Amino acid sequence: MIDFQDPAFVLDPYPQLKELRQLGKPVWHEGLEMWLAARHSDANAVLRTKTLGRIFTPKSPESEWGEFNWLHADSILDSEPPKHTRLRSLVGKAFSRSRIDALRPDIERIANSLLDDAQLKLDSTGSFDLIAEYAEPLPVKVIATLLGFPDKDEHLLRPWSQAIVKMYEVNPSLEVQSEAKRAAHEFAEYVRSLMTDRKATPGEDLISELASVEEAGEKLNAQELIATCVLLLNAGHEASVNGFGNGIVAALERKDQLELLRRDPRGITNTAVEEFLRFDAPLHLFERTATADTEIGGITVLAGQKIASLIGSANRDETIFNDADEMDLTREQNPHIGFGAGIHFCIGAPLARLELSASLPLLFERMPNLELKSTPTRRPTFVLRGYEKIEVVGSK
Ligand code: HEM
Repeated sequence: MIDFQDPAFVLDPYPQLKELRQLGKPVWHEGLEMWLAARHSDANAVLRTKTLGRIFTPKSPESEWGEFNWLHADSILDSEPPKHTRLRSLVGKAFSRSRIDALRPDIERIANSLLDDAQLKLDSTGSFDLIAEYAEPLPVKVIATLLGFPDKDEHLLRPWSQAIVKMYEVNPSLEVQSEAKRAAHEFAEYVRSLMTDRKATPGEDLISELASVEEAGEKLNAQELIATCVLLLNAGHEASVNGFGNGIVAALERKDQLELLRRDPRGITNTAVEEFLRFDAPLHLFERTATADTEIGGITVLAGQKIASLIGSANRDETIFNDADEMDLTREQNPHIGFGAGIHFCIGAPLARLELSASLPLLFERMPNLELKSTPTRRPTFVLRGYEKIEVVGSK
């Protein structure tokens, strides 16, 4: 059975995920004590089935994990109806397609200014890191602006988020656990004081909007407000950084795909963005717990048992995608489930799509000769799959 911590698996999980799909139905993983749904139909069904819920198991002792626990239990992602419906409807409007589409000029301005700096680095040192200079700061700045998180403290977001999301990997070490507790505490306290400021002096941002709802009392309490803001700040950049990074490396490694991007970056943007998210998914595994015995793809998940939806595997399912293991930036039929499915379908999908579709063509228009300088460094994690560093070179 798959060893999710084996460095060779983490480096390239796709051959073993293919073997898992070939078993034809979900299989029980003894080590993880959960079912694994690897085929597209099963992974999709896991996310859509009402008796499979996102049920957060609090960590103990509560005295140490308190903030980490409620930051999850009171967030949209880790709650189920009716609480989920209430929380999601409060932020839903802010992420509607029309409100998000209006952000395009701002996103392009941020992307251009980051590319100005990257070009300076390229001119002076001969290379730059696509993650540190472009893929990471872009979504961080966008989500921070949307929520009204102060510019001067933007640098705190990725380290806090990284410390928390490392807990989603299999068997987190004691060091990872203690970092996650610390980050949860600092992040919650920071957002709490921001919320107090915004109640006193409201701005045009989402934190101010939610703080006024909280003050009115009925729909949102203070913990839910903080948990929701922390979730949006984290989810609002973590997968976007890796979605861009994973896709761009795969494209830079394939001559034919790179040629397509160089020749007509704007013309293929929409299909390219979807293929980025399908081909090397930034998020690979989401768990659900059965609230009643539930049949999925020929097995029964007993009440109380867990099952994982393996999104990255589903996106390579050869029964759904032609040449599933090939990257094709012009792929038309692309029913990937990179943004999930069902009631927890990614609320930020329009924003993530906009960020990718604004930043990808600009990069190739301004730096058409971009190439990898060296083999990029992968992060040693499976659930959140991404690169640490992507050094690139390229003359004008
Ligand atoms: C490429 C980028 C992104 C990817 C691949 C992605 C993927 C996902 C997936 C797979 C889920 C569902 C998890 C589950 O079912 O358990 C999800 C949920 C969510 N995402 Fe994203 N996401 C991205 C960007 C964003 C952005 C930019 C935001 C900003 C607001 C965001 C906010 C959320 C929230 C709040 C949820 C929870 C929704 C709910 O539980 O109802 N995501 N995302």
